[in-house]
Order: sequence, then structure tokens, then C-alpha cells
Amino acid sequence: MFNNLNVALYVSGSIAAYKSLTLARDLIKQGANVRVIMTNSAQLFVTPLAFQTLTKNKVFTDISEEPDEKEITHINIAKWSDISLIAPATANFISKIANGIADDAASTTLLATSGKKVLVPAMNDNMWNNPATIRNINTLKNDGIIIFSPTKGYLAEGYSGKGRMIEPELIIEKMESKLSNNHLLEGKRVIVTAGGTRESIDPVRYISNNSSGKMGYAIADAAINAGADVTLISAPSKLNANYKARLISVNSSADMENAIKDNFYQSDILIMAAAVSDYKPVSYSDQKIKKNDDNLVIKLSRTNDILKEIAKIKSDQFVVGFAAETQNLIENAKSKLQHKNLDMLVANDVSGDKVGFNSDNNKVYFIDNNGIISQTGIESKQKISNDLIKLISERIDK
Ligand code: CTP
Repeated sequence: MFNNLNVALYVSGSIAAYKSLTLARDLIKQGANVRVIMTNSAQLFVTPLAFQTLTKNKVFTDISEEPDEKEITHINIAKWSDISLIAPATANFISKIANGIADDAASTTLLATSGKKVLVPAMNDNMWNNPATIRNINTLKNDGIIIFSPTKGYLAEGYSGKGRMIEPELIIEKMESKLSNNHLLEGKRVIVTAGGTRESIDPVRYISNNSSGKMGYAIADAAINAGADVTLISAPSKLNANYKARLISVNSSADMENAIKDNFYQSDILIMAAAVSDYKPVSYSDQKIKKNDDNLVIKLSRTNDILKEIAKIKSDQFVVGFAAETQNLIENAKSKLQHKNLDMLVANDVSGDKVGFNSDNNKVYFIDNNGIISQTGIESKQKISNDLIKLISERIDK
């Protein structure tokens, strides 16, 4: 993925700057062209000469320094870069770029850059947890900047805390998984459903399930990173949708079915990650149900199976379902694939508490009509989403 890729490496003033020497060297080893931009405080930790020696390129440190009067260095670097990698990113530097401040070589070049940006923070744990930093990080996420959060480990302060920059090897691995799907779904219109639907009993009560929406939201991110035009149809979830997605918020399974049908004809791919209620109350009470001394019996009726309904109107769209199982995983999943007329199914075992519902991780089998395509270990939902997008892209007409 890095072969001939132009990487602008921004180094700001943290002790973790020494690790960026290894990062620059490893990127070059992978075939990247690297140019380094340093803040003044970064130069107190590592010298520009060290980066220059490794990258064979002059390091940009001073906005007033223009060796060639016909060139504007910060605009040139901004245009040249395929990816901007900010590592380490200090709390101060993060705060500057979250607010569009351009007062040195690094912040000015970054503000002039429209391409993909990856930010790798390093700081004291209290600084990382400070509401101002949290606000700035959220702003940058909403601006489409990819953040590789710090890890918990031994800090320069002499104790262990969350603030340590992740290791260069992991930065490269994560960049590969985040960015390598770049154009796989270019021009494709993708519907992703997420979250657990709610079936109302009365104005204040409903039946729902434990779905957090994490899987569907991660798939929406992965599809967007792959260049797709994404409509995210989401049942209630606490998560923030990717700002590039067209978000349609729904409550019940009937709302979700309507929203999908409204958009399905114009779409190429449907990924049904939502946990749709299978039952709903037969009748809805307009008023809040009052308690009395008897048991309360709520009669439930079946909701529509949305995927089965979609199968009836499907033409050449590629439809992916999920199967949440607690037993006979493969057998049940294969039968769902067939009777819901799906092109692919992601089967996960939700019996454990380490993966599946509400967790950040999952462990799945990808299945199509020829059988099991592949099986993952316990992986982040982001990684599983990237794998899914890759598999879909290999199976659709381009
Ligand atoms: N699904 C759907 N409509 C429903 C229920 C589920 O479209 N009323 C979709 C889910 O979004 C998922 C797939 O069907 O992609 C399988 O969901 P799952 O809950 O595993 O299976 P069910 O079909 O509901 O079967 P069961 O609960 O009996 O396992």
C-alpha cells in the first residue's frame, strides 16, 4: 500500500518524537516517499538533521524560509502529500489544528492540505482526558481526520497512564487497514443499517435489545473510507455517525423497513447489521399503562422480516445479512443465507461477553452461497468492517 505513496510526516514536541525516526525509516522501507515537517518544540527533542539523513529530503521547519523564490513550500508539500501523518501530535498541536490556527510551518502546511490525515496523539494522561482535548479530538474526528488513540503504558512522568503514542509498527499496520481499501467501493451507493429497533408499548415503554450500533457504524465508516456513498439507517444509538454518511434515524422495525424501501432501488449494496425486533406489541396504548396488582400480559405479534421483504424486490443489489447466534452457528447461518436470499452473511456467536453485542470486538465467519469464505479471530469491529468491505468489493460488478 505504501509503494510510491507521498507521506508528509508532521512531528510536534513530545518525547515520543524519537519514535518518529523509526516511523520515517519504516515508511521508507515500505516504499513511501517521506517529507518531514517539524514544530519548534519538536526540534528540542530530535534534530531536523536526523530526519533529513533518513528521508534524504530537507525538513520543513520555518515558514519564512523559501529556498526557491518561485516556490511556496507549504503549498507544495500540501499538494504533494497523499497522506498527512501527524505523529506525535501533542495536546497543543491538536488544539491548534482543531481550531484552524496556522502560526508555524507545520500548522500552516496542514491547514493548506485537503488530503487524508492521520493523527497519532502523545501526551500526559490528564491532558488526554481533559475536556478541552476530548472536545478537540471530537472536532477533528468530525472533520474526517483519522485518530489512532494513545495506549496505556509507562509515561515519561514515571508512571503508567493512557497517553503513550502507539508504536511505529502499529501505526503502519493501522494505516494499512484504515487506508488500503481506499477506492474499493468508489461510486457505489451503500445502505447500512445499525442499532436495535424499538417497538413501543406505550408513550414511555418499548421492547428492544442490547445492540449498541457499533458494528453498523464501523461498517458505515469502512464503506465511506472505501469511497462509497453511504446511507446509514440507524435505530437509536449513542454513537456519532460519520459526518460523510447520510443519516436516517428510525425507531421501530416498520420505520426501518420503510426507510430501506425508500432507498433500496437507488442503491447497489445493502448491509443489514441492525438488530431488528422480531416481535412487537399487538396493540399500542396511547396513554401510559397504569400498574395494578395483576400480572401484566403483553401480547406480541411478529414484525416483518425486513430482509425477506427486500428479497422480493431485489434486482442486482448485493445484500449482506448478519446472523447473531448462540448455538449451531454455521448451520443456522447457512440456512438464514438461503431462506433470506442473501449474497453474503456475517455470522457471529453472541453467547460470550467478549464479542458481539455492545462489545468493541467481534469474531465472525463470512459465508456466501459456496460456504464459509473465511473466519476471523477476535478482532476490532473496524478491522472486521474493512475485511467485509474488501470481500464485498471482490464480489460485485465494478
Ligand atoms: N432481520 C430483518 N428483519 C427482522 C429480523 C432480522 O431483516 N425482523 C435481519 C437482521 O438485520 C440480520 C438478519 O436478519 O441481518 C438475521 O438476524 P437474526 O436476528 O440473527 O435472525 P432472525 O432472522 O431474527 O432469526 P432468529 O432470531 O430466529 O435467529
